[in-house]
Amino acid sequence: MAGQPVILVTGASSGIGEATARLFGSRGYRVVLAARRLDRLEALQKEIEAQGGQALPVETDVSSAASIQAMVDKTLATYGQIDILFNNAGFGRTKWLEEMDPEKDIASQVQVNLTGVIQATRAVLPHMIARKSGHIINMGSQAAFVATPTYTVYAATKFGVRGFSDALRREVGVWGIKVSVIYPGGVATEFGQHTQAKRKTGITTPKALRLTPQQVAEAVLAAARRPVRARIMPSITRVAIWFATSFPGINDWLQEKYFTRPERGL
Ligand SMILES: NC(=O)c1ccc[n+]([C@@H]2O[C@H](COP(=O)([O-])OP(=O)(O)OC[C@H]3O[C@@H](n4cnc5c(N)ncnc54)[C@H](OP(=O)(O)O)[C@@H]3O)[C@@H](O)[C@H]2O)c1
Repeated sequence: MAGQPVILVTGASSGIGEATARLFGSRGYRVVLAARRLDRLEALQKEIEAQGGQALPVETDVSSAASIQAMVDKTLATYGQIDILFNNAGFGRTKWLEEMDPEKDIASQVQVNLTGVIQATRAVLPHMIARKSGHIINMGSQAAFVATPTYTVYAATKFGVRGFSDALRREVGVWGIKVSVIYPGGVATEFGQHTQAKRKTGITTPKALRLTPQQVAEAVLAAARRPVRARIMPSITRVAIWFATSFPGINDWLQEKYFTRPERGL
């Protein structure tokens, strides 16, 4: 049964995913709320429904292909369609590589941030191909362009999301399926609580450049209306990305001198 458009949001229990789900819920979308913390998803469902929207909480672990398939199956059984998949679930562990736990910090980060995006996309594609429409919106990061020390694994996953998205766009465009990617800088969410970063230098995203989850949610809504290959935000940071990618030698030198050496006490 066709009806109001459906967006499936992974990582809807906090931060950017929660703000995006709330925004789309207020704009007439039926919103599927996916994450592990079901209590939070149910609270958000109540909030969206109290405002006249429709939401479906689905307890999901995107590090499991079976859980992802169950999420897609439940969505289709309930709403009958998926118009947008917002692959947003993710976390960062910013430590020196040699200090990372092989499972919790490395394997799990790749599993959630990259493999989860690929598996969720694969799971919705047969439905989107059959309908000859659909939109995959992936959550990148500026770490998909500029990789900084202590972000080795995180940057690897986000470079991966970028490469995956570009190849995918060229694969599924023939079916009328769109692929957009949002590349934010620092966003004020619970993300920072998971990074376990301890900085001697105190270097972090300047307050003036820090985004709110609502700003990123607005960018996702804008992409839903008008698909975008790469939405780098805030826009001013495109200059820094251009500089860092155009002059990689200078970038290596600056990062080693002003970050790695003082942080390692060398
Ligand atoms: N905050 C930033 O500075 C920033 C900048 C650029 C990009 N990003 C990206 O934005 C996305 C959202 O992050 P956020 O800043 O909103 O952080 P957040 O508030 O910590 O939200 C992360 C979300 O991911 C979900 N998640 C984590 N592991 C999961 C798993 N195994 N299965 C299902 N869901 C899982 C969490 O839900 P549960 O714990 O309930 O499962 C939570 O809803 C991430 O992809 C992140 O890399 C963040």
